[in-house]
Amino acid sequence: MAGRQIRKVRREARVRLGNLSEWCRVAFGRPGARVGAAFHRPTDMCEPDRIMIYALIRGLRPSRVLEIGVRWGGSARTACAAMEDNRHGRMVGLDPETDAFRAPKRALHGRYELVQGYSPQDIPKAVERLGGPPDLVFIDAMHIHACAAADLRGALRAMQPGGHVLLHDSFHPGVDRAVRDCLEEHPALTDCGLLTRHARASAPVAGQGLRLLRVGAPVEEADLRAGFELAGVAFPPDPSRFYNYDKFAIRIGMVRESEGRYEFVPPAPPEERG
Ligand SMILES: C[S@@+](CC[C@H](N)C(=O)[O-])C[C@H]1O[C@@H](n2cnc3c(N)ncnc32)[C@H](O)[C@@H]1O
Repeated sequence: MAGRQIRKVRREARVRLGNLSEWCRVAFGRPGARVGAAFHRPTDMCEPDRIMIYALIRGLRPSRVLEIGVRWGGSARTACAAMEDNRHGRMVGLDPETDAFRAPKRALHGRYELVQGYSPQDIPKAVERLGGPPDLVFIDAMHIHACAAADLRGALRAMQPGGHVLLHDSFHPGVDRAVRDCLEEHPALTDCGLLTRHARASAPVAGQGLRLLRVGAPVEEADLRAGFELAGVAFPPDPSRFYNYDKFAIRIGMVRESEGRYEFVPPAPPEERG
């Protein structure tokens, strides 16, 4: 009984301390607090799309991001805030009209470089500045079919398996057609679908919307290994030993450990439980 009480007090203290540290992170601009960059203007992107860009970069944790179509730098600012919160990643933006860029240097956290040029012909120049193949390419330039397809083909040529391509204005019929062309040409490309569905009228078409493509299968063993490595845990040589591992299930007796394997113990039928 006393043990249970102590565990409860400890758990509550952890929750309260966690909330306090979250408050400090926001108050003192510590990691995690920069999500607010997604609400800055000017930008061509609707709010849900900007929030998704922040979330995706936090989640996917890319090392090298290439942005095709930069304009005022609204998406650059949001992406750099997320990379700064990850404490990881660099981004290069490619655009012929660099004069329009308005994001202040301090908002880019030393993680952004703007390159003047046209996609697809100048993609190799931008990739060189990135220092290696991008693992995330964000395409938001001309939305007409021929240009969107050329941007996407150029991006795919510069990438390696395991990378992602994010397209903006995915509701535009030209962008959708370009995606479907490339899916037919690249059997290894996976369409992860529309990530945001806040279409906006840009008559006679609809605009906005983010769509994610993956070079390769949606999840591969290499991704799982990278996750274990990041967490500082050794990847198990025999993952099947852990198919039934769950610390909460062990705590309530639903799973039993025996010689390094975890066995599911089905609950007794109601009549046997008394
Ligand atoms: C919709 S704006 C980009 C908005 C930006 N991603 C944001 O959300 O803040 C499109 C930009 O693509 C640029 N652009 C047009 N053709 C391009 C090309 N071939 N290569 C790179 N950028 C291009 C335009 O100059 C313009 O600045």
